[in-house]
Amino acid sequence: MASGPLILAIDQGTSSTKALLVDGGGRVVARGTAPLAERQPRPGWVEQSPDELWESVRLAVKACVDPSEAGRIAGVGISNQRESLVLWERSTGRPAGPLISWQDQRTVAQCRELAATGAGDLVRSVSGMPLDPMFSALKARWLLDAYDPDRRRSLAGELCLGTVDSWLLSRFGGDHVIEAGNASRTQLLDVRAGQWDERLLELFGVPRQVLPRVVASNGDFPAVRGLDPVPDGVPVLAVLGDSHAAMFAHAGWRPGVVKATYGTGSSVMAIGDGGDAAGLCRSIAWDLGGRVLAVEGNIRATGRAVSWLAELFGVTSERLLAETGDDEPGGVHLVPAFGGLGAPWWEPDATAVLTGLTAGTRRGQLVAAALESVAFQVEDVVAAVERATGQVRVLLADGGLTRSARLMRSQAEISGRVVVRSGEHDLSCLGAADAAALSAGLCTYGELEARPRPAEEFRPEGDPGERAARLAAWHEAVDRARPPGP
Ligand code: G3P
Repeated sequence: MASGPLILAIDQGTSSTKALLVDGGGRVVARGTAPLAERQPRPGWVEQSPDELWESVRLAVKACVDPSEAGRIAGVGISNQRESLVLWERSTGRPAGPLISWQDQRTVAQCRELAATGAGDLVRSVSGMPLDPMFSALKARWLLDAYDPDRRRSLAGELCLGTVDSWLLSRFGGDHVIEAGNASRTQLLDVRAGQWDERLLELFGVPRQVLPRVVASNGDFPAVRGLDPVPDGVPVLAVLGDSHAAMFAHAGWRPGVVKATYGTGSSVMAIGDGGDAAGLCRSIAWDLGGRVLAVEGNIRATGRAVSWLAELFGVTSERLLAETGDDEPGGVHLVPAFGGLGAPWWEPDATAVLTGLTAGTRRGQLVAAALESVAFQVEDVVAAVERATGQVRVLLADGGLTRSARLMRSQAEISGRVVVRSGEHDLSCLGAADAAALSAGLCTYGELEARPRPAEEFRPEGDPGERAARLAAWHEAVDRARPPGP
C-alpha cells in the first residue's frame, strides 16, 4: 500500500459537503460527499441549519477516510461557501438561529434604505463591495435584531457571529476565529487593512465583541476535533473561501489569467487590486504569508437560466442541454435577472426578460439563448476585470456547467479569448488541499504551477466585428431588463 502524508480537503458548499484525500503529488486517493438541505421559509429567504451543516461535514469525511488511512493525514484544508452567516452562543456552542444563506434577499429593503442615506460610497471604498444583500453585513444586523435586539448579550461577549469557516472551526473548539478572505466578504472589514472597520460596524449595528479574530489563511486555527475517523489534534493548515480556493487550484496567481466558476450563479475572479473597478468587488483572495487582493464579479443567474428553462419544460437540465443540438438563438435573448442583476450592473430591481420571440421560436432556440446568456454575462464581467487589472489572455473555466462543450465554444467566440476548461471536478476542494500542502511545506508555488491537471482549450475563431455586433445586441436586451428610469 502507498505511504507518505495525505491532506484531507473539505469543501463545505451550499448544496453539499465534499471531502477529498490528496497525496503529496496532488492526486486524489479518496472522495466522500454528503448533501445539505436549504429552506425557503418565505419568498426570498434562504436558510440552512448550522447543525445539519456540521453533520454534513462529519458525514462527508467519514465517507472519504478509511480508518486504516487516517493516521497518514498530515493536515486539513478547508474551503467553504462564503457570506452565509451563523449566530451562536459562546458558552454552549449552540446556534441561536438559522444560517442565513448568501442567496437570501430578506434585507433588500434595508439595503435600499442605507443606499438612500448615501452610505454606499463609504461601504464600497472601505469594504471593497457595493451595498447588496448578498454580503454578510446586513444578515448580521438582521440576526442581531432578531436574537439580541438591544445588543446586551453581544456586548457582554455571550454571542458569536461567524461565516461558515468560523462556525466549522468553532466546532473544533479554541478561539473564535475567521479566515481573512472569508472576513473580507462580510462587508465589515477594511479590505486593505485586513481588520474590522469601526465605521462599518457602527453603520451595520454590529458590536465588535460578537465578531471573530481575523487570522491568515494558514493562521493558527484550532486543530481538528470530533471528525471521526481523523485523529483529534490533526492541524488545520489552510482555510479559503470556495471561489478563492478554485482560483488557487487553477494556479490563478499567474498574471493575465482570470477564472470563472460556472454554477447556479458565477464568480469571475482575478488577482489584483482593481483600482476603481466599477461593478466589481475587491476582496482578500488569501493570506498565505502576505495578503493577496482579488477583484471579483458575482453573477446571480447563469446555470439558473438553464435550470429555469428545464423546470418550465419539465425535464432535467442535463436532458435539456443534450437535446439542444446545434440550434442557434436566432435573435432571441434571455436576460436571466431573476433576482436583479449582479456584477457588473448591480441592479437589484432589474427583472428577467426574453426578447426577440416570434411565433416560430422553438424550444431549441430558447435553450441556445439561455446558454448564450451565460457566456454574455461572464464576458461582461471579464471585460470589467480586464479594465481593472490589465489584459486578460486566458479564461480558466470550472464548475458543473462547463461540461457543456457548446457553452465553452460559445464563451470563446463571444469573449474572443482562449477558454481553458478544467477537467477536474471539486476544484475548490483541490485548492484547499493545495494551500494546505503549501502551508505544510509539502510543495512550492512552482510545483503547484507545474502540476499536470487535465484541461481542454477552446479557441475563438470568429470575426471581431461580428463579436462586437452580438455583444451590442445583448446589451440592448440587458437595457430592457433594467427598471424604467425616473
Ligand atoms: O459566494 C457564495 C459562494 O461562495 C457559494 O458557493 O459553490 O457553495 O454555491 P457554492
